[in-house]
Amino acid sequence: MGDTVHYSELGLVNTRDMFKKAVGGGYAIPAYNFNNLEQLQAIVTACAETSSPVIIQVSKGARNYANETMLRYMAMGAVKMAREMGSKIPISLHLDHGDSFELCKSCVESGFSSVMIDGSHLPYEENVALTRKVVEYAHAHDVTVEGELGVLAGIEDEVVAEHSTYTKPEEVEDFVKKTGVDSLAISIGTSHGAYKFKLKEGEEVPPLRFDILEDVQRRIPGFPIVLHGASSVVQEYVKLINQYGGKMDGAVGVPEEQLRKAAASAVCKINIDSDGRLAVTAKVREFMANNPGEFDPRKYLGEARKELVQLIKHKNEVVLGSAGKA
Ligand code: G3H
Ligand code: 13P
Ligand code: ZN
Repeated sequence: MGDTVHYSELGLVNTRDMFKKAVGGGYAIPAYNFNNLEQLQAIVTACAETSSPVIIQVSKGARNYANETMLRYMAMGAVKMAREMGSKIPISLHLDHGDSFELCKSCVESGFSSVMIDGSHLPYEENVALTRKVVEYAHAHDVTVEGELGVLAGIEDEVVAEHSTYTKPEEVEDFVKKTGVDSLAISIGTSHGAYKFKLKEGEEVPPLRFDILEDVQRRIPGFPIVLHGASSVVQEYVKLINQYGGKMDGAVGVPEEQLRKAAASAVCKINIDSDGRLAVTAKVREFMANNPGEFDPRKYLGEARKELVQLIKHKNEVVLGSAGKA
């Protein structure tokens, strides 16, 4: 592993202040996943132009893809780019779905300002113990930690989340107290990926379980709640993908109104990955089909980046309400 660096040396901030403002402010901080340069440029451009605080997040897979040291300097570049645009937006670099203490520790050492330890699949007491261990290490470095209770349905399950996988509100207070986490991801009916609900002909997307969210909120008032699997699976992109040779029939996500409602309540971090992937894929497919002789990646990735900027601005302004909150 490379040199140890503290995130403050990179110009990054942890999520504490961001969440404090968002919780009482009726909006959610956007957490956009990235793996490459164009995605990160688009996130910075859109968030600087809408003056939105932002969490740039990387999964374990993204870290393996992009290289941890490369990510550190990309995050530093993101801060510098925003400042050069004349923007003072706070930026956090967050590990998404960390699955071990060692991974979280490595990210803290390499300049992450926030980590998620996802022990949601473990028995309760094991989740508590693992999360507590990560919190102790991370807090010693002033890095904030996200934990998770309740399991989101996997794409492969092909079902809406089973009742048993929803967060049990009666566990949250004990979990927060025992672990010392700074935020808590809960399961209220969202799932990861582009196929969130299996709908029959004419069926509408079922509402998220706002009753569970309200119960959680009642038990830990003012505590920052995180919503994963929150892409809307923008149908305009699905159509473009299918029109230009793709095959994504039945792709469906969480309606924007439901996310707005969640953002206005205790949810203060909303994770979006799939919508960005769809925007890039739609635009690259369209460009390739219409420009068969073009072979400069800047041309097709440039089109994708332009679309991503528009998508992220829309999310910040209309869905999360984070625009103007930096
Ligand atoms: O929650 C998962 C994120 O969408 C990251 O996905 O593991 O394919 O990078 P990934
Ligand atoms: P989506 O797949 O809905 O974009 O969810 C992303 C996510 O939760 C990342 O942790
Ligand atoms: Zn997630």
